[in-house]
Amino acid sequence: MGRSQSNSLRITIIGTGYVGLVTGACFAEIGHAVICVDCDAAKIDLLQKGGMPIYEPGLEELVRRNVAAGRLAFTTSTREGVEKSDVIFIAVPTPPLPDGSVDLSFMEGVAREIAGAMTSYKIVVDKSTVPVKTGEKVSETIRRYCRSKVEFDVVSNPEFLREGFAVGDFLKPDRIVVGVISQRPVAAMTELYAPLNAPVIVTDINSAELIKHASNSFLALKISYINAISVLCEASGANVQEVANGIGMDPRIGRRFLDASLGFGGSCFPKDLSAFIKIAEQLGYDFALLKEVQRVNARQMERFVKKIVNTLWVLKDKNIGVLGLAFKENTDDVRMSPAIELCQRLQQEGAVLRVHDPKAMDKAKTVLTGVTYVADMNRVAEGCDALVVATEWPQFKKLDLERVRRLLSHPILFDGRNLFDPEEMERLGFIYKSIGR
Ligand code: UGA
Repeated sequence: MGRSQSNSLRITIIGTGYVGLVTGACFAEIGHAVICVDCDAAKIDLLQKGGMPIYEPGLEELVRRNVAAGRLAFTTSTREGVEKSDVIFIAVPTPPLPDGSVDLSFMEGVAREIAGAMTSYKIVVDKSTVPVKTGEKVSETIRRYCRSKVEFDVVSNPEFLREGFAVGDFLKPDRIVVGVISQRPVAAMTELYAPLNAPVIVTDINSAELIKHASNSFLALKISYINAISVLCEASGANVQEVANGIGMDPRIGRRFLDASLGFGGSCFPKDLSAFIKIAEQLGYDFALLKEVQRVNARQMERFVKKIVNTLWVLKDKNIGVLGLAFKENTDDVRMSPAIELCQRLQQEGAVLRVHDPKAMDKAKTVLTGVTYVADMNRVAEGCDALVVATEWPQFKKLDLERVRRLLSHPILFDGRNLFDPEEMERLGFIYKSIGR
């Protein structure tokens, strides 16, 4: 990328999680001076020593290169970050509350901290996923807690990064959404992203916030739609992949996000759906369509567990191998992972599990106990009554299937991600059950 860009605007990112760290490293990569702030001293210490708190393809290299070039630094001091920058991004967690609504206390706390540290004009940009009207609240809060009467602008600039592909998504975005209350910060925001040559949509702040929730909810809806179609395919003998290809070629529909699965998970879709339903409710609209998206998703897991139980009958003391623990491929993230939920359901039925994930085993160990973690994906099947594919890691497609079949006590494979060709699996001697085929 064009690393020769000017360093005229200095950036601080508050919150060094998946979004904050990727955003900070990528802004540095395109030439800006960036400070990443986090209140977690252990995390900042690790980053300062060259370690990585998360696995994200390409990120470690990016961090190393930009730290070495003097464009990227880490601190626990919000005050330092605010003082030394022109544009301050907020990328803190916005976790769900028990009723599905969003806990905005980190957001509010950071807004107050920024207010307390401001001594000159700042642009405060919200990158976290937040309910519509949060920007207005952040603006009010900064105004209230700012001691001197310094000027500032609040901007909503939602992220559309997919975990596992976040660096590429940042550097080659489909669009950049900039939601503003006043026009003053638009030039600076445009300048920040100029090296990416991507379309910039400038809109009002409430629309920008809605774009984020509406976008994630639509993608979740797309997955639930194809998962509902997969049920019809199973009942009628059709093939959901053929149907997805057939409808996906219509550019109005598009083929992406039409892969039937055991359901979507992760730290975004489930949380954002609940939040959006709640936001709609508060705005006086019953978003029943999205409630059904949630129901279809929950049923998809039920159906998959049932498929396993119907085939193996009693799961108590059966050995089952599970490939995949992360909520999707290319990540070590197990938050709201359908694979982990599946493992726990199988454990509840009394099954004994051997599990493997290329990157997520360390994180899985904190939430999934009483299983055997296996380092070699080809050996998970050893002595098992069945093997289950729960995450769409591309390397699982390269399994040594002959060997896997020999290692299994019974050649049964449940594929929750449709990674294999049913005819080929039959030819190899497997009893093969996938989704919607
Ligand atoms: C999602 C969005 O795709 C990003 O645009 C957004 O920025 C991000 O949330 C966020 O709000 O931070 P992410 O949660 O990282 O990104 O992962 P996705 O690739 O969207 O996958 C979500 C889940 O849907 C995974 O469990 C995946 O396995 C599942 N999925 C995805 C399917 O079951 N079928 C598909 O066709 C696609």
